[in-house]
Order: sequence, then C-alpha cells, then structure tokens
Amino acid sequence: MIHDLTDEEARAALPLKWETPGVVPAWVAEMDYRQAEPITEALVDAVRRGALGYPPHGDDLGAAYAGFAARHWGWEVAPEASVPTGGVMSGIRLALEVLCPPGPVVVPLPCYPPFRDVVEVTGREVVPVTLDPDSDEAVLDLAAVSRAFASGARTLLLCNPHNPLGQVPSREELAAVAALAREYDARVVSDEIHAPLVLPGATFTPYLAVDERAIVVTSPSKTFNMPATHGAQLVLPDPADRERLAAVPIPAQNTWSILGVIAGTAAWRDCDDWLAALRQRLSAQRELLTELVADRLPKARMRPLQATYLAWLDLRGYAVADPAAAALAHGVRVAPGHDYQPDLEGHVRVNIATTPERLEQIVDRLALGVRP
Ligand SMILES: Cc1ncc(COP(=O)(O)O)c(C=O)c1O
Repeated sequence: MIHDLTDEEARAALPLKWETPGVVPAWVAEMDYRQAEPITEALVDAVRRGALGYPPHGDDLGAAYAGFAARHWGWEVAPEASVPTGGVMSGIRLALEVLCPPGPVVVPLPCYPPFRDVVEVTGREVVPVTLDPDSDEAVLDLAAVSRAFASGARTLLLCNPHNPLGQVPSREELAAVAALAREYDARVVSDEIHAPLVLPGATFTPYLAVDERAIVVTSPSKTFNMPATHGAQLVLPDPADRERLAAVPIPAQNTWSILGVIAGTAAWRDCDDWLAALRQRLSAQRELLTELVADRLPKARMRPLQATYLAWLDLRGYAVADPAAAALAHGVRVAPGHDYQPDLEGHVRVNIATTPERLEQIVDRLALGVRP
C-alpha cells in the first residue's frame, strides 16, 4: 500500500527535499512515499469539477477530524470546534495574536525552528525551557515552566508529539502542564501535526483531553505528505474563541484553500488503511535505523523514537562539532541539531521516511562524515 518513489519520481514530487543533485536528502519533514489513493482521487475529482472557488463557511473537515479522533484516540471533539486555516505555523501565529494573553511565551527547546520565529513575529518574547536532548525521558521541566509563568509568561507553545525529539508526552505530564496553566491563568497552544504518526509502543494523548481551555493547531499534511494542499485547522472547543477568530478582518486571517479542505477531509476520513501501512513501514525503518546505527555508528546514541519519522542522534562520541556539515560533504543531507537548539553541538535529526536502501546509504554517508 505504501508506494516508494523512485529518485526521479521523488525529484518531481518533492522538489525542495530533493533539490540538490547527488545528495541523498534526509532533512526536511517530507516522506519519499506517494500520497494515499483516496487523497489523489478527491483532488483529481475536485479539479475536474472545477472546484477552485473560495472555500464555503461550512464544510466536512471538522466532522472528518472528529471521526478520526474518536477512532484513533478514543477522544470526543465537536465537529464545529475545528476552524480551517492555511497552515500550522500561520495558525499558531493567529492563535497567539488573537486568542492568547499578551506577554512572553514559553517555548521548550530543542524545538521546530519556526516555533521561536512565530513568537518573535508576534512581537513577544521567547522564554526558553530546555528539555534534555539526551535524556530518554525528555520531560518538561515543570519547575522552570512554573517560574516562567510566575515571572509573567502567559502562553506555552507545546509540540505534542515532539519534533525533533520524537517523544510522546504522557497523559500525566500533560495533566501537570494543564494544572500549571490553570494556576497561572495561562493558555497552552498545542501543535499536534505529528499526532497520527505515533508509532507502535506509544500512546498519544490529545492535549485538549486534559485542558479544555487550550488551543490545538493541527493538519493532516505531515502524516499524509501533502503540504502543497495548504490546509490546517485550529481546534477551539470554546465558542467564544471561535467568535473572536471569525471577527478578525480578512487581511489578518490566513486564507486557506478549498483543495486543502477537500484533501484534509479525505485524509482524516478515508485513509486509515494507508495510515496503518505507513506506521508499519515507519516502525520497520525505525528498527532498521537502530541496527544500522549499532553497526556503523557504534558511538552514536539514538533516542527512542516514539513518534514522527524524524530520528534524533547524539554523535558527540565522534567529536565533530557539526556532523550535518561533515555528512553533507559525503553526499547526505541531515538536519543539524543546532537548528533546533542554538549552540547544541554534535547532534542531527535524520528523516527515515524513505526506502530501506536509501536509509542504509544515509547512515553509511553519515558515518563517512563523522568517523575518523
Ligand atoms: C511541529 C511542526 N509544526 C508545523 C510544521 C509545519 O506546518 P505548516 O507547513 O502547516 O506550517 C511542521 C513541519 O515539519 C512541524 O514539524
């Protein structure tokens, strides 16, 4: 069910990821797999029908997401809680500007780099709270979050599950965050774009299941490999939040595309079989990476990969400050750890959503880059 793209197909389908000839790309979060057939059918049908107008006010996206949440996470969410938006990052910007109290924003580090940018774009201060990138647990330092709230921060930007650490916060951890948010009347914005990519062995908890006052921003675009459709959603259980958002003037909104709504609806509603096959493939790739690392990079430490297809490797045993640059010289592009946490040396994030053959090449070239 998972169709592997050939190099030629991948260059056409994923032009950013595959932009450098001769380099095996394992950096940006896109998968070398073709999108699920129901998504192709829905989009082709929409284009044939000429469905290229403005999106309607009511659509099926919220109901499709609610169905997905009930089937996969046993979580009830009202269909009307979903408000479409253009992308996850622009949705977070909107949430910060329109729905969150003024004041500094707590951002756990390491983080997806636009997390820091989005806070700055909204004119707010980033209060970093560092997770230990080398601890298998990497739980939030609640005392540090509490101190940040006590000194005036009123928003926390969560990544659930976590990119780049591949970690799935436990329900207890999330409940403890929720208790702190209540104590300080702070709001949590939870980016759940990686939620359907929780791999066998871990359990996802929607943050809203422990904190009804929160804001979730999500999209099927990562799991179903279709950022081009430009569709995401804010999940807002509180009708007052939805009213405040609806009152925002059009130039300050993020426009979204009817094609994003159509593709997103098909993804949440019709692609469970494809997703099951994807998780199986990613789980096999995770196992293969573990074996390859043990064999070819014995001094490396791989964090347990509970979710996402982005593995976090600690390569400090090889004493190379920037292993991503060293690997690029040998024909593989991985993401440098310092993109996620400034000044962090010796770490990389590796995208494993490719073929087993390419994954072996990736590890071999990385090993050539860092081994003496
Ligand atoms: C945690 C996280 N949020 C958001 C995004 C991007 O979402 P969008 O392209 O919809 O802004 C990514 C992309 O990799 C991501 O990892």
